[in-house]
Amino acid sequence: MFQAILIEKDDAGQRVGKTEVSEDRLPAGDVTVRVEASTINYKDALAITGKGPIVRSFPMVPGIDFAGVVEHSDHPGFSPGDRVVLNGWGVGEQHWGGLAQRARVRGDWLIHLPDGLTSLNAMAIGTAGYTAMLCIVALERFGIVPARGDVLVTGASGGVGSIAVALLSRLGYSVVASTGRMSEEAYLKELGAAEVIDRQTLAEPGKPLQKERWAAVVDSVGSHTLANACAATKADGAIAACGMAQGLDFPTSVAPFILRGVALLGVNSVTRPVSERVEAWRRLSESLDALKLDTVTRTVSLDQVVEVAHALMAGKVRGRVVVDLATSA
Ligand SMILES: NC(=O)c1ccc[n+]([C@@H]2O[C@H](COP(=O)([O-])OP(=O)(O)OC[C@H]3O[C@@H](n4cnc5c(N)ncnc54)[C@H](OP(=O)(O)O)[C@@H]3O)[C@@H](O)[C@H]2O)c1
Repeated sequence: MFQAILIEKDDAGQRVGKTEVSEDRLPAGDVTVRVEASTINYKDALAITGKGPIVRSFPMVPGIDFAGVVEHSDHPGFSPGDRVVLNGWGVGEQHWGGLAQRARVRGDWLIHLPDGLTSLNAMAIGTAGYTAMLCIVALERFGIVPARGDVLVTGASGGVGSIAVALLSRLGYSVVASTGRMSEEAYLKELGAAEVIDRQTLAEPGKPLQKERWAAVVDSVGSHTLANACAATKADGAIAACGMAQGLDFPTSVAPFILRGVALLGVNSVTRPVSERVEAWRRLSESLDALKLDTVTRTVSLDQVVEVAHALMAGKVRGRVVVDLATSA
């Protein structure tokens, strides 16, 4: 038996809570992992609160990421005792996920945890941090370098935003952090932001072309914020778009793209090939000191997951939340 968060649904609606589950209920897969840590990402909060159609089949263990130790493996790439991390692949959506002390998954979805990363700090980074790194890789591939100018990070106090600010700053970029919580200015500057702006300045409908302000953008917010971010991107700059915390809509014109040669680069962490995952995690492990994970992270137990998911949906969670499963009874 092991402890898990379970989401169930019937005609009366959705129920979610911590429960004890028998190992024989684990889904099919060739690797069984003793999960040591998971996290609460935006997608997990949508699933747990029922505010978004994330879960495709019930009952479901949520949790789109986890880190832990292989207990059993029929996969040639993994052996018992290996330390592994998983992000995405529909885990926590259509296949039981990481908010449980055991997970059974396809070995093809796992990668080995880089040396120097514990399960707890891998999950302090989590899918949010891994996605922030994928956004930076997308900008680099487009040719963005620090000398080109400032980089805007939206949703800066959130999970993706906090790690993006720290990573960009470590790489030598001058970061403009946009937040709805100006009370977090000191936190964002500690992570490396050169300037902190009020997200309200980007949140409303704006002109299709605006004064050129930044060379690049990491956007986890979407909607008018993304439209305004594009409108104020310098000629030949780029925007890595990965989220929709303000909305899925994108109310803008083609003006920044055809008149300034600006590029919009979509980032989807869920199905990246293994080679890109390994490279992103290698770079994250090398940036560990700069990520200031103690500042960015709060650690909770399985008992607190549902409460934290509601707080995250209400925009009240700063940075990252790690769920410690090794000590959750
Ligand atoms: N594409 C992918 O593969 C991928 C991977 C991971 C996450 N995501 C997406 O990225 C987004 C952020 O994820 P996360 O885990 O970082 O979530 P999070 O920790 O909740 O951060 C989201 C941040 O967005 C800002 N925000 C919230 N509501 C807003 C609103 N109405 N208008 C403007 N800003 C708002 C807040 O930052 P401030 O308080 O600082 O303003 C909030 O902290 C989500 O949409 C998530 O689904 C996508």
